[in-house]
Amino acid sequence: MGDKIQKNIQNIINHLKVSGFVYQNSEIYGGLINTWDYGPLAVNIMTAIKKYWVREFIAKEGNVQIDSKIIMNPKVWKASGHLDNFSDFLIENKLNQKRYRADHIVKDLFPEINVEKATFEELEEIIKEKVKEYDGSKTEWSSIRPFNLMFKTQMGAIDTAANQTYLRPETAQGIFINFKNVLRTTRAKLPFGIGQIGKSFRNEITPRDFIFRTREFEQMELEYFCNPSDDEKFYHYWIKKCVDFVTLLGLKSENIRIRPHEKEELSHYSKGTSDIEYLFPFGWGELLGIANRGNYDLSQHMKYSNESLEYLLDDGTKIIPHVIEPSIGLDRLLLALLVDSYEEQELENNDVRIVLKLDFNIAPYQVAIFPLMKKLNSKAKEIFDNLLQKTELRLIYDESGSIGKRYRRQDAIGTPFAVTIDFDTLEKNTVTVRERDSMKQHVVELDNLIKFFENYKK
Ligand code: GAP
Repeated sequence: MGDKIQKNIQNIINHLKVSGFVYQNSEIYGGLINTWDYGPLAVNIMTAIKKYWVREFIAKEGNVQIDSKIIMNPKVWKASGHLDNFSDFLIENKLNQKRYRADHIVKDLFPEINVEKATFEELEEIIKEKVKEYDGSKTEWSSIRPFNLMFKTQMGAIDTAANQTYLRPETAQGIFINFKNVLRTTRAKLPFGIGQIGKSFRNEITPRDFIFRTREFEQMELEYFCNPSDDEKFYHYWIKKCVDFVTLLGLKSENIRIRPHEKEELSHYSKGTSDIEYLFPFGWGELLGIANRGNYDLSQHMKYSNESLEYLLDDGTKIIPHVIEPSIGLDRLLLALLVDSYEEQELENNDVRIVLKLDFNIAPYQVAIFPLMKKLNSKAKEIFDNLLQKTELRLIYDESGSIGKRYRRQDAIGTPFAVTIDFDTLEKNTVTVRERDSMKQHVVELDNLIKFFENYKK
């Protein structure tokens, strides 16, 4: 086995771009800053992750899923508190009109300061007194002002304030406003959860770190409604479930930690929040969060809509359920999985092998099918078609280049197994299965091939 070379985020990004995971958005027009499109390989991984999320967070738990709209009645955002509170601290360098998040500047330059606890007056003082040069330029700082992160848009042809609305900054509110509908139509009993997968939008002041912080991203959120007396119990239950989930997908335990929020940094709605953080190449960063939202959201929507969102217990008492919310960003999870699995290995004769050690269950392709020689193409295609027909494996067929080159191409995109169809396939009904991680090869009887792969299913 080769030695590992240390992970370098720029190498990883380059690799992801050239091999078809991520493309620069609007590339032929010079790009759009910090905006990325996903290519075929990333789409395959994300589809697999979503399937596991549905299994673990919805199906196994007896929960249900909905699909609400990105644009909703703007009153939703007044009630939820986003119009008044969903802001970051913006500061501008007046010499070049560049704008930054004040907490990011302080975090970058003074890592010893706990920015989560600092007030905006303190951040402003530190920046004005100590940061005389930033981002390659001399500075003259503005005051800090709150900047609302919601994207504004307008409904219909008339551009008036009355038609102004917003792109959702989280999928959660679409769930709260449908709470009554789901309760009525499913006759669900507490505790139960409503989940949603979908795009969210935030006009981040400084999107950064590749796909870690972008203005358009996808969330997988569950709002788990429970009796107020059970909220602590379920808060801890869902924290554990989230750790188990990312571990199931293959993230290494040593690169994950749980970080409970300090009182000062809790969101406007939260009674308690824990982040699950991942050790990205640029440091520990929030991968996902679990929040105890109490009855904040349902109470607010009751107040603003004048509709009752109460729940009737069997003994006839009415309660406003409490909510535990595990909220996972799909893009961040994708980045963590790719970074976690990326290896550059030095082999003999100074050869370097790039390998993505993705778990079998989320790899873009799970099995590659190679005919050893042209003469074997039709047999290989027959095997490929048969596997497609009889399994749900993600398969890729490749007949071009030497076998060695074909192996390398699959290693680099994370395909765990390559099946080579050789002359023994015709004579003895066997194939050679080569493992990505160990590079070991096994002879497997064709009749046992499906069973061989089934052992890796989780
Ligand atoms: N409904 C709760 C909520 O939205 P959040 O902590 O603001 O909570 C949840 O977001 C998750 O969504 C984050 O942990 C992260 O994975 C993802 N996320 C948030 N902002 C993001 C951004 N600008 N780019 C990519 N992912 C983001």
